[in-house]
Amino acid sequence: MEKIIINGDTTLKGEVAISSAKNSVLPIIAACILCAEECVIEGAPMLEDVFVICSVLQDLGCIVEINNVNNTISINSKNIINKEPNIELVRKMRASFLIMGPMLARFGSFKLSMPGGCNIGNRPIDLHLKGLKALGAKVDTEHGFVLVEGNKLTGCKINLDFPSVGATENIMMAAVFAEGTTIIQNAAEEPEIIDLANFLSSMGAKIFGAGTGSITIHGVTTLHKSVYKPIFDRIEAGTYMACAGITKSKFKLIGVNEEHLRPIISKLTECGMIIESNGEEMIVDGRECYKPVDIKTLPYPGFPTDMQAQMMSLLSMSHGTSVITETVFENRFMQVPELTRMGANIKIDGRVAIIDGVKKLTGCEVKATDLRAGAALVIAGLAATGITTINDVYHIDRGYMNIEKKLKALGADIKRIKI
Ligand code: EPZ
Repeated sequence: MEKIIINGDTTLKGEVAISSAKNSVLPIIAACILCAEECVIEGAPMLEDVFVICSVLQDLGCIVEINNVNNTISINSKNIINKEPNIELVRKMRASFLIMGPMLARFGSFKLSMPGGCNIGNRPIDLHLKGLKALGAKVDTEHGFVLVEGNKLTGCKINLDFPSVGATENIMMAAVFAEGTTIIQNAAEEPEIIDLANFLSSMGAKIFGAGTGSITIHGVTTLHKSVYKPIFDRIEAGTYMACAGITKSKFKLIGVNEEHLRPIISKLTECGMIIESNGEEMIVDGRECYKPVDIKTLPYPGFPTDMQAQMMSLLSMSHGTSVITETVFENRFMQVPELTRMGANIKIDGRVAIIDGVKKLTGCEVKATDLRAGAALVIAGLAATGITTINDVYHIDRGYMNIEKKLKALGADIKRIKI
């Protein structure tokens, strides 16, 4: 087990390089199943979740080479032989379910363990399965498994009851070889959806409208190899921006896309942060970042749920009362008891959190309960007086590459210890 120890109340300075987006790279790796030639992902983030999905593909029979020196991953899915991947492996990470669509599209049948829920919610897959059924697949769920069969999928119109990111991705990948045209309506519009569509198109898929609520896929017969560099991680960038706000620091982010950060920039500007972007670089100045704000998480282009916990840490030291409404997941306030231990004043009423800003947070022993709640504790620890010890940091490592190295380079007094 590992812990992160922060001696807080430090100012940050310098620059931090943002990695590629975890939530782009995971579906892109899954999409490599559709191609019987070698694909190379450049600038891939070396993250626990990335290693897990690579292991799942290796279990299927793919040849996967991870180079953590130049951050590339090469995947050759020519010889997939296993159609029932190891349950323990698949259940390590819910996003493994993203292999369902590509395996169905390429092989016409597949059996996969149901992903199950996680700390932030039940995480159902009904919209995924609705889409696969609409394409003509026979879908059975029994004994904790999903079995799909459909040798010749047929394009159709699919309307999603909710703009689910994963369902949009799975259906898009399943439709790539379908006969005719598929239109996904009320599709997710996240930048990671556009990135997946761009990767599929780079392999020869015919996809239009990604990033809007209506995505059109014209079926093709085969896909060819590709070398692709995913987009930057807007949530990692937002996390470091929140670090600037809570420590009243000014520093540079390298590797950002201002368009993808718009809802986060808007809220942090409301808080008093000064943000100047120039191409892929951004100067964030949190020295006057004191104002309370109200936040409601929504599907993109609304404020991202993946930034909710991080903003709660920042607002726990604002000069006033803020209200956060979490509309996407049913249990995404797991950071509250831990922030309360540090002195935050937060009340929860269902999906609403009321944050009364306090003058001081104090360091103490806390534990990460999920990826973004863990990031929120790092943010709070940077501003807290004294030592904050964060346990169960494996949650944080799922989505943040070298978080303590990046913060140490910005001047934080932070270290990781093995126990
Ligand atoms: C993706 O999860 C991200 N994960 C999540 O990031 C992110 O929080 C989420 O999208 C929302 O933006 C990856 O991309 C790997 P959803 P996903 O399907 O696809 C309901 C992180 O911290 N729903 O858009 O699972 C569901 O219950 C992670 O990086 C159904 O009802 O999210 C939830 O309330 C956490 N039926 C809502 O939709 C379904 O079939 C959003 O889920 C599918 C989803």
